[in-house]
Amino acid sequence: MENRGSFGSKLAIILATAGSAIGLGNIWRFPFTTGQNGGAAFIIIYLACVLLLGIPGMVSEFIVGRRAQTNAARAYALLGRKSWRFVGYLGILTSTIILGFYAVVAGWCLQYLFAAIAGQLNGDAQYIIDYFQAFSNDPLKPCLWAVGFVLITHFVIAQGVNKGIERISKLLMPLLLILLLILVVASCMLPGAVAGIEFLLKPDFSKMTGDVVLEALGQAFFSLSLGTACLCTYASYFKSDTHLLKSATQIALLDSAIAILAGLMIFPAAFSVGVEPDSGPSLIFITLPNVFQQAFSSVPAVGYVVSLLFFVLLSLAALTSLMSLHEVSTAFFQEELGTTRKRAALIVTVTTSVIGAFCSLSLGAYDGLTFYGEALFDWFDFVTGQIFLPVVGFLTCIFIGWFVPHKIVREEFSNYGELKGYVRYFHRYLFLIKYVCPLAILLIFLHQLGWL
Ligand code: TRP
Repeated sequence: MENRGSFGSKLAIILATAGSAIGLGNIWRFPFTTGQNGGAAFIIIYLACVLLLGIPGMVSEFIVGRRAQTNAARAYALLGRKSWRFVGYLGILTSTIILGFYAVVAGWCLQYLFAAIAGQLNGDAQYIIDYFQAFSNDPLKPCLWAVGFVLITHFVIAQGVNKGIERISKLLMPLLLILLLILVVASCMLPGAVAGIEFLLKPDFSKMTGDVVLEALGQAFFSLSLGTACLCTYASYFKSDTHLLKSATQIALLDSAIAILAGLMIFPAAFSVGVEPDSGPSLIFITLPNVFQQAFSSVPAVGYVVSLLFFVLLSLAALTSLMSLHEVSTAFFQEELGTTRKRAALIVTVTTSVIGAFCSLSLGAYDGLTFYGEALFDWFDFVTGQIFLPVVGFLTCIFIGWFVPHKIVREEFSNYGELKGYVRYFHRYLFLIKYVCPLAILLIFLHQLGWL
């Protein structure tokens, strides 16, 4: 069997894992969810979820992966009884489905990038709406972009952990940060931008409801890549001296910072031209092209560059996240079938291209592709986001908190006692993972199903 490979340095570990976490969830989903849920108040709850539930959850997936040094399914079986393998299977299934529909939105980003280059995003508000509708209803185009994006991901993954994931993450993540900062500055300098900044930073506590808390938790899980064995798989390439708690904290903070920066890029521009912040998932594809155009109408060249950079940014962020989703199943097939990495990657690419194509078609061209009245795309989004992610997250907490011997958990948490002063944190971590996290996830889950 081929060598499994491992990330070459601490920086590579942080950048690759942050690459998984930072994606469309931060730049597309976070801003519109924040907009719909009242701005700063939502962000405060979101950050609390990241700190109290997200970071312990990440550490737990890291512990499973690094200890077992193998794919997700085998990892759960190795640390516990054989039957725990099914949590790994569920994680692998979830990441495959997410990969399918995530690629559809990623494909839109690529299409918009090319449209921005060709200067096709110029026109009045109605033109932009028609453009989006015509594009998403086209039977072929969005499908081809989605499959194209899966193929790009395939070529990175087929190169392996070091030459593929590590190299591309090291290249793209700093670039992403620079692009984001440029766009934040451009957006905050617009006249009237202050209202957007205030919306993001001044909490209105009257907006805090139970539903907002649930929304924040769901967003935190999705954004941190929790609950699909992505983190577990990446952790199987971590070094034995990687400080798991510190890495999880750094990645979670970086991820949250990027999400807030994405808000600072979008809301000041939106407020500056008087666009409502709560326009939902179409915020990026319908509202923003308009916003950029109007905001920079006095210097159209700047508007052109800004909208182009924005879609480059989105596509890069999507790519590093898709890589991590692809890797979960690739590692699984490679090790379980004893085949080469390239062949394993091909299996995943073909499967997810089919899923992606059907998801894409279900949104417009063939609206007969429904399941219980929902388009396949929305259905997959619902099943993975609202059911599978919380279930895998919940079971991982239970697994680490109650089933894996604490000796093993402690050894991984402390790098076999090497880390000084870890005891205080270890007990807090255990408490969170045994009681707080499972209970919180359970409450949210029941609420989402309408049982609470
Ligand atoms: N976290 C990524 C984002 O914010 C998406 C992602 C990658 C993901 N891997 C995941 C989401 C695993 C859920 C589970 O866009």
